[in-house]
Amino acid sequence: MTLPYDTRFPAIADLKARARRRLPAFAFDYVDGGIDEEYGKRRNRDAWHEIELTPRYLRDVTTADQSAEVFGHRYSMPIGVPPVGLGNMMWPGAELALARAAQHANIPYVLSTFSTTLMEDIARAAPDVGWFQLYVPKNVDAMKDLISRAKNSGFHVLVVTLDIAVGAKRNRELKNGLKLPFKFTPKIVWEAMTHPAWTFDTLTYGQPDFVNVQTYRDNPDEELGVFLTSFNMNGVTRERIEMIRELWDGPLVIKGVQYDRDIRDCLEIGVDGIVVSNHGGRQLDAAPSSAQSLREVSAEARARMTVMVDSGIRTGMDIVRARALGAEMTFSGRSFFWGMGALGRNGAEQVVGIFRDEVDRTLKQLGCPSWDAMDGSWLSSR
Ligand SMILES: Cc1cc2nc3c(=O)[nH]c(=O)nc-3n(C[C@H](O)[C@H](O)[C@H](O)COP(=O)(O)O)c2cc1C
Repeated sequence: MTLPYDTRFPAIADLKARARRRLPAFAFDYVDGGIDEEYGKRRNRDAWHEIELTPRYLRDVTTADQSAEVFGHRYSMPIGVPPVGLGNMMWPGAELALARAAQHANIPYVLSTFSTTLMEDIARAAPDVGWFQLYVPKNVDAMKDLISRAKNSGFHVLVVTLDIAVGAKRNRELKNGLKLPFKFTPKIVWEAMTHPAWTFDTLTYGQPDFVNVQTYRDNPDEELGVFLTSFNMNGVTRERIEMIRELWDGPLVIKGVQYDRDIRDCLEIGVDGIVVSNHGGRQLDAAPSSAQSLREVSAEARARMTVMVDSGIRTGMDIVRARALGAEMTFSGRSFFWGMGALGRNGAEQVVGIFRDEVDRTLKQLGCPSWDAMDGSWLSSR
């Protein structure tokens, strides 16, 4: 049987293994790494693994419809690309390639405030599926400007991330000496020399830079890292979310919520959706897995908001598990960027192909006719 992807890399784990070989260590570690001892990252994977679904037979499973509707748009699959800052470091041009692939595949593409491609260019590449993620700046004028740029360039959904109250201490990044612009330490130069394909492409494409927020930099001599750390609010307040609600009249999503009271606040403010997430285990090593937090979302929140999830999703099976726990859309950050690291700008199609195939087979094997029909009744009662 011919599959619509390269069967030398049939799983996301194979793309990860190839990305590890093809990328300089500082680029691979930047995406792969978690915080502290990286237990939270493992906890995410373990929690998905533990969910058992009971298959149902005695039924025809010739087709399974995996399309999923959120905010009035029917996407072809229940998985999207979440915001990943500094995306072009994984492979030069990754963000634009992913946006185009998402548009082609009709899946959500969420652009990070800290992306390395101009938001206006991404909006043009993904006119039907582009969402914009906002890290809330301390400076209200910068925030208003980002929101109006998002609106004017045609992004459909505004996603506000809450879960970076403080800059993360990620030990791999510290040891690798990752800084932008790149500081050419002997270690970085060695990594670049021993990964010529990445280096050649990076030299051709240009060094990644935080192009969307450059304009809000008062002092151009200030080191980029210092500027970025001081850019975000130290803890986004409820008042700020209320202000954003006033400014953005389209669908508003809060990303990175796990605490019941926070979700109730979102409801009271009139937020349209949440992404239950622990940032892929990159912010707080003790945070509950996103599967566990998804399980705990109240019936009221499920009824009144669009509930989505990310963190640790690596297979079509995980995507369907998330649906059984009530998710209406899922996202996988590292999978898409490992795809780019493994196969360059063609990586997006490979990741889409793998997930599409795996979701299809999983739904059929479970005896479920569609994503819409999947629910908690498939959860094993053990
Ligand atoms: C390298 C990297 C950079 C990220 N940058 C952002 C970002 O700029 N904004 C944001 O809201 N989330 C960011 N995230 C979190 C992702 O949006 C998403 O929550 C996370 O990747 C999900 O976990 P997973 O990678 O295990 O799928 C980043 C994640 C990674 C791996």
